[in-house]
Formats: sequence, structure tokens, C-alpha cells
Amino acid sequence: MWPSYKAYIVFLVTLASAADNALAVGTAFGLATGTTGGGSATAATPTSLAQLTTWLSDSTARVIVLDRIFDYTSAEGTVTGAGCAPWTCTPSPQFAINSNNWCTNYEPNAASKTVTYYKAGVTPLAVGSNKTLLGKGSNAGIAGKGLKITGGSNIIIQNLKISNINSMYVWGGDAIQIDGGSKIWIDHNTIQNIGRQMIATGYGAVTQTTISNNVFNGQTSYSATCNGQHYWTAILTGKADQITFALNYLYQTSGRGPHVGGIGGYYQNIHLYNNYFVSSKGHAVDPEVGAKVLLEGNYFNSVVTPVLSGGTAIGQAYAPVTAAQAAACSTLLGRKCVINAAVSSGALPGVATDTGVLSGFIASTFKSATILAASAVPAYVQANSGVGKVN
Ligand SMILES: *[C@@H]1O[C@H](CO)[C@@H](O)[C@H](O)[C@H]1NC(C)=O
Repeated sequence: MWPSYKAYIVFLVTLASAADNALAVGTAFGLATGTTGGGSATAATPTSLAQLTTWLSDSTARVIVLDRIFDYTSAEGTVTGAGCAPWTCTPSPQFAINSNNWCTNYEPNAASKTVTYYKAGVTPLAVGSNKTLLGKGSNAGIAGKGLKITGGSNIIIQNLKISNINSMYVWGGDAIQIDGGSKIWIDHNTIQNIGRQMIATGYGAVTQTTISNNVFNGQTSYSATCNGQHYWTAILTGKADQITFALNYLYQTSGRGPHVGGIGGYYQNIHLYNNYFVSSKGHAVDPEVGAKVLLEGNYFNSVVTPVLSGGTAIGQAYAPVTAAQAAACSTLLGRKCVINAAVSSGALPGVATDTGVLSGFIASTFKSATILAASAVPAYVQANSGVGKVN
């Protein structure tokens, strides 16, 4: 009697912990406000890669809880094909897969190279609408394969580690790709060792989306900039993107932090606030054609180029650093902007001063955003960003 009673108690406790943390933690803020993902669907943990693949892509509302790393790395075997070596340096450079003739078209002087990479990395997991994908603890998520939303809506991706996607190769795969979509909240994830982009939007419009509290860890053994740092951090270049990018920790990344715009006829409004940028040997924000980027309360610590200008960086960015520049926001936003800080970094004052940006930020979401003073950002972001903090 006692042993089976005890077993029954264990069974009940197990049920309780499975139902625990069934929902995403906290509520989406910024432009993704109102995003509920899988909502109140019963939380469940997949038992295999195949089940996770199916659950993510089907048309059922789901709360999918990952309790470990789902490692797809070698699940689909390897591919050997044409590639190139655009960079030669120490420490190790990235090589490139000749996807869509990229080597031929963009790196014609690079030596050819036969490349072997994992197929799983170049075929991302499709993510459908009405999904919450939630990691449990500090070591749950997906390895060897990324996520791709194509026109989906109402999706939460939270507390995941996403890593090790053919990091040796440009075009080896993205961590999170969104080709059109709305109501998307990407929160408290840690992303590292990715071949191509850690986050990419395009070509469809990505709206009502918030990218928050993530760690973009750029430390890598294979660098396109030959300095041990990851260049391909985030590219936001959809047809009409509306994105809140806040409270993220960009650590040792060397480029595209984020790259915004670059395609004629497309436009993007990116509210970039309270991000902590640390130890970048390259650039952070790269505003290209079509971009309107409003920077508030960001903290750049040892970043060579906080905001690129010149060359193709002809998009609009406004990064107030003086009281007068902060006050210039009042007419359109109904409040002052929060000034940015750059310490041991390249010039920020005078670089991003285009008040034409402000017309893109008159919606109430921007006016009412809660934004920390830049001085509070380093401690806050280091304590709260990335995997293992919320669940
Ligand atoms: C997502 O949920 C909404 C609201 O319940 C529903 O209208 C919509 O059809 C769902 N989308 C999909 C693809 O299931």
C-alpha cells in the first residue's frame, strides 16, 4: 500500500511540474504587446526531434516546453559542395558555401574551396502561428538548426539557447529567420556560434514584433572579420518592418548590430533602446536605405563604431546624446528622448542626428515606452538577459 501511494504522490508531483510554467513568462511589451503564442494550450515537451519539428510547424496552437538541448546537428547528414575562402587569417576565418553563387558573384578573388557542412543547418525548422516555444532552465533549446517563420502570427520564442549552426561557414544557416509575420516576441534567448545571421528579417514585412532581453554572443572560433568575433548579428530588412529591439546584450559582435534596411522601396522602423553593446571590434548599428532607427538609452562600451555612416549606411538614425537632442523628440513623441551613452567607444555624438527619423515613431507604443537611463543599462542587462533568467 505505502509504496504505491508514494508512487502516486510522485506521479502527481510530476504532473504538477509538467504543468508548471506552462505559459510564456511575463508579457510581451513594445510592438509585440498582446502576443500570446500558444496561449493556454496545455504545455508539453516533445520526446524526439521529429515530434518537435511537427509541433512547431502544424496548425495547432501549442505551448512547447524544451527541457534540454534538441540537437539536430548530424540528424540529416552532411553535404559536400563548392565554396570559397574569402578571408585568410589567424585566428581561423569563416569559409563560405557557394549558396546562390555568392562566392562567384561577391568574392570573385577568393580561392575556391570544397566545403562539407551539416545539412540540418541549412534547412530551418518551420514555425507556424499560435506557438509558444519555451525553454526550461539555463540549458534548453536547439542546436544545429534554426527557426524560420514565414508569414506566421502570434509566436513567442523564449528562454532558448540556439547554437552551433555550421559556424564555420557563411550561409551555413541562420538562428532565427522571419520572412513576413506579425505579433512575434523573441525574448531571453542566448544565441552563439551561427554560420550566418543570429536574427534576420525579410523579405516580407515583420510587424508588431519585439526582440528583447536576448544575448547575442559573438565569441567565435570562425570569424568573417578575422578577429574572433561574429559579424552577422542581426539584419532587419523586411518590406515594412516595425520592430522593438530592446534590452539585448550584444557581446563581442563585430557587425550588423543590427543592420537595418538596404533594399530600395522597403522601409523599417526600429525602436532600439536600452541595449548593452560590449567589446565590439567592428560596428554596431548599420542603417542602410529605408531604415529609420531611433536609439534611446543604449550603452556602448568599447565599441569601435557605435553607428556606421557613409558608404552604404545611408539610412536614417537618431541617437541623441545631448539634452537638446533629447528635447527635440518632444514635438512628435510628446516626450523627451532618453540619451545614449558611449564609453571607450568610437564617436556617437554627431554621427546619428537625423531628426527625420522621429516621424516613424509617433504611435502610442513608442511614446509610452518605459526606457531606463543609459547609466542603468549595463548592470540591468547583464543581470537579466539571456537564457536561464526567467524560467
Ligand atoms: C491562430 O489563432 C487564431 C485565434 O484563435 C485563429 O483565428 C487562427 O486561425 C490561428 N491560426 C492558425 C494558423 O491556426
